[in-house]
Amino acid sequence: MGSKKINNKCGLRQDYDFFSHGLEGVAAFETSISYIDGKDGILIYRGIPIEELAEKSTYEETAYFLIYGSLPTKTELKKFSSDLENHISLNTEDIKWLKDFPVAAHPMDVLNTCVSLMSLPEGGDYEIGRGSDLKAGIRIMGKMPSYIAAFDRIRKGKEPIPPDSKLSYAANFLWMLNGEKPKEKEARILDLCLILHAEHGVCASTFGTLVTSSTFSDVYSSIVTAIGTLKGYLHGGANEQVIRMLEGIGSPEKVEKYVSHAMKEKEKIMGFGHRVYKALDPRARILKKYARDLTGKRDEILFKTALKLEEVMEKKFGPKGIYPNVDFYSGFVYKALGIPTDLFTSIFAIARSAGWIAHILEYRESNRIFRPRGIYNGPVNVKYIPIKER
Ligand code: SDX
Repeated sequence: MGSKKINNKCGLRQDYDFFSHGLEGVAAFETSISYIDGKDGILIYRGIPIEELAEKSTYEETAYFLIYGSLPTKTELKKFSSDLENHISLNTEDIKWLKDFPVAAHPMDVLNTCVSLMSLPEGGDYEIGRGSDLKAGIRIMGKMPSYIAAFDRIRKGKEPIPPDSKLSYAANFLWMLNGEKPKEKEARILDLCLILHAEHGVCASTFGTLVTSSTFSDVYSSIVTAIGTLKGYLHGGANEQVIRMLEGIGSPEKVEKYVSHAMKEKEKIMGFGHRVYKALDPRARILKKYARDLTGKRDEILFKTALKLEEVMEKKFGPKGIYPNVDFYSGFVYKALGIPTDLFTSIFAIARSAGWIAHILEYRESNRIFRPRGIYNGPVNVKYIPIKER
């Protein structure tokens, strides 16, 4: 990690201070939004441990806390929730777009496209600054759940369901998705998942969002970058792949064989490992408990396969600091809430929009465009040969 001696094969002057492949171990800026202790598996949002927020807070309150930096008063929280509510309804144009999308589209691509389309009416008059950034961010947070829920219904040949202003952010998503008022316990569990996924330091998607916003591009473009980055299966896309992997393994008895084959083929096991955590991801610990409580008869074999995989991986890779991450058990919770597998990563995106917006606003205060270097190791003194002589 960091500053490995580079063999400067091309002999040209290479102006860089520090080399670290993929910026591993590099701190690029200061932040007060969250802290991760990868060795002891600790995560805190603005000083409060994730376990306490998961137990006592709500997603709206946590999102406010991340974005504004202080826990909201009752009035502030009411205002924030109503600001979100002002944007949660889809207009006829939104629904027309969604009905024009191919039903086979991946929900993350739908989300990306919708956030892009949201920016069009503002055109060129988007003014960079805390006011407009915040306004755009809240608008995006408000709309994201509605786009996903509506798209899922439309692709099933059903009509979108308008939000119910009496429901919380999480409950409204389940209502708009399933067309039934969620039980309190179900809404509470999704709310907890949103809290757990709301923020996680300079993960790839947050870094991506900051690369875009650091050029003084707008919040819409920055969130589009983030969604596209989160989609990758090495990042947020892993939660969908975990369930597909476990369904592919089929039973606990087949786990050993699957892992040996994956190791031989140098394949990564989805839902395990982390660039920062070398201990169990504290979010995985919480989600495993809910996954166990919620997994019904129908998915018992799947859950037992997951437990067996965790046991086998712990034996083989625990000493290397490879443990389940947030994506390993989240899918069981979403499945139990009746959420289709290919929507899992978009739920991650909905939750993480709070963290992305918080970082955009914070970084803008001491903005510096991201522009790392690549070490050139290509040819030198190459002659140009006209095409007719090639
Ligand atoms: C998220 O950054 C964040 O904070 C992200 C996130 C968030 O909240 O934003 O926490 C959410 O993205 C969680 C991660 C979800 N992704 C997966 O579950 C995909 C599987 N995981 C791996 O691809 C991997 O662990 C990463 C991408 C998560 C981390 O990769 P690193 O830090 O680049 O580690 P690496 O690939 O260099 O692996 C180091 C060693 C290698 O072995 P050697 O070559 O040294 O022998 O560990 C092995 C790897 O092969 N390894 C794995 C493994 N993860 C690491 N081997 C098998 N299966 C795995 N999952």
